[in-house]
Amino acid sequence: MKSEINVTFGNRTYKTPVIIGTEGEHAVDIRKLRSETGFITYDEGYANTGSCESAITFIDGEKGILRFRGYPIEELAERSNFIESAYLVIYGDLPKMGELEDFRNRILLNSGIHEALRSIVAGFPPSAHPMAALSAMLNALGCYYPELSSNDRQQGIANFDHTATVLISKVRALAAMSHRYRTGLPVVYPRRGFNYCENFLHMMFSYPGEDIQVHPDIAKALDTLLLLHIDHEQNCSTSTVRMVGSGGANLFTSVSAGVCALWGPRHGGANQAVIEMLTEINERGESVENFVEKVKKGECRLMGFGHRVYKNYDPRAKVLSRQAEKIVSAMGAKEADDPLLVTARKLEEIALNDDYFKSRNLYPNVDFYSGIILRELGIPVDMFPVIFAMGRMPGWIAQWREMAMAPSGGKIYRPRQIYVGENERHFVPLTERE
Ligand code: CMC
Repeated sequence: MKSEINVTFGNRTYKTPVIIGTEGEHAVDIRKLRSETGFITYDEGYANTGSCESAITFIDGEKGILRFRGYPIEELAERSNFIESAYLVIYGDLPKMGELEDFRNRILLNSGIHEALRSIVAGFPPSAHPMAALSAMLNALGCYYPELSSNDRQQGIANFDHTATVLISKVRALAAMSHRYRTGLPVVYPRRGFNYCENFLHMMFSYPGEDIQVHPDIAKALDTLLLLHIDHEQNCSTSTVRMVGSGGANLFTSVSAGVCALWGPRHGGANQAVIEMLTEINERGESVENFVEKVKKGECRLMGFGHRVYKNYDPRAKVLSRQAEKIVSAMGAKEADDPLLVTARKLEEIALNDDYFKSRNLYPNVDFYSGIILRELGIPVDMFPVIFAMGRMPGWIAQWREMAMAPSGGKIYRPRQIYVGENERHFVPLTERE
């Protein structure tokens, strides 16, 4: 739906179209602004800028609503699973029985890793951060699929279904494999009859000749966690995937860049940062009240709190807060037995009742409880962002597809800037410089 508004610059009035999304969000369409007025817009961090039209994910940050392809996240977390929701997010509709079966089988059948790629994985030192390794391996993976990793856009679209399942399958295999090499254990391949998450836990933790028994509640907790992470519209890593893809780069390279963008502690690295923060508070024997005072003085941030879009409780955090409780009891323990969970609950209670956090609309985000759950599952802390990347993979794939298949062919992402450097000056030879 489109309408128009007038924007006045001095004594000139510029008529600009307004785009209205299906949920009623209004956007001023400034695509001709510069050519018609000479002005550009300034929006540091793109907080008010829509970079694309997208039919994948809807967020109402004020109300705390998140929907994938129209389905509320709470309903999907309750009734769907990671692989089914991945299909939904990528292709737009829930799969029929045969489509889901075929998608699952293709993911299972693509789990093998080329021997030469295995030697690249084995070549990383055990101290390498798993996100650095994952990004490098995803890009290297494309080299083993020349027909899928061509930058010929038509070929990329024609091979899309295959590439998507290769990536969803191999991100799991590469994550587990790099953990095995780091810990000196032999590589384990997935088993028929196990679902995506059961297989991941098997590939991470089984011993040769002695497969682990995966508790269904534990596999379900991981599945829900991955499902909640599938997509989150134009966040930092997804915008990176679209930006890299907008230059014409293939899907392997685009998602590899997405991993790099996700790694930072303000984004997907926050789950690792939350656990480090909780551990440090406990190790110092610091009171939660004292820590909150330091946050309020600006000495540090309360990791796992705040969000660019949510000005309400992140709906993913609500689901994970309940999951944290369930997972502790699935492990045969009580919340009080986990000192980090106890500290997290206290921090949440104090922050939610404190004016500093209330006035800034700072609520727990998805990362506040996800680290607690992953730690209970025995995942090493520096692998937490890798799990985020596994969950986000279908979202990146869906967003790349939407961009690549846009009827316009999609424009290259190329923001402008406001130059604030030196005006023109002239070269001074080295000997004459003061
Ligand atoms: N702790 C303390 N103060 C905070 C926090 C926090 N976690 N987050 C924001 N603020 C304050 C900030 O100091 C500022 O206060 P003031 O107006 O007095 O200067 C105000 O709130 C607005 O903050 P901002 O940095 O301008 O907000 P933003 O939208 O640019 O940043 C954010 C969003 C997520 C980077 C930020 O909230 C943050 O650093 N949070 C901690 C890291 C984190 O948990 N990240 C995970 C995000 S969810 C997963 C994902 O999608 O990646």
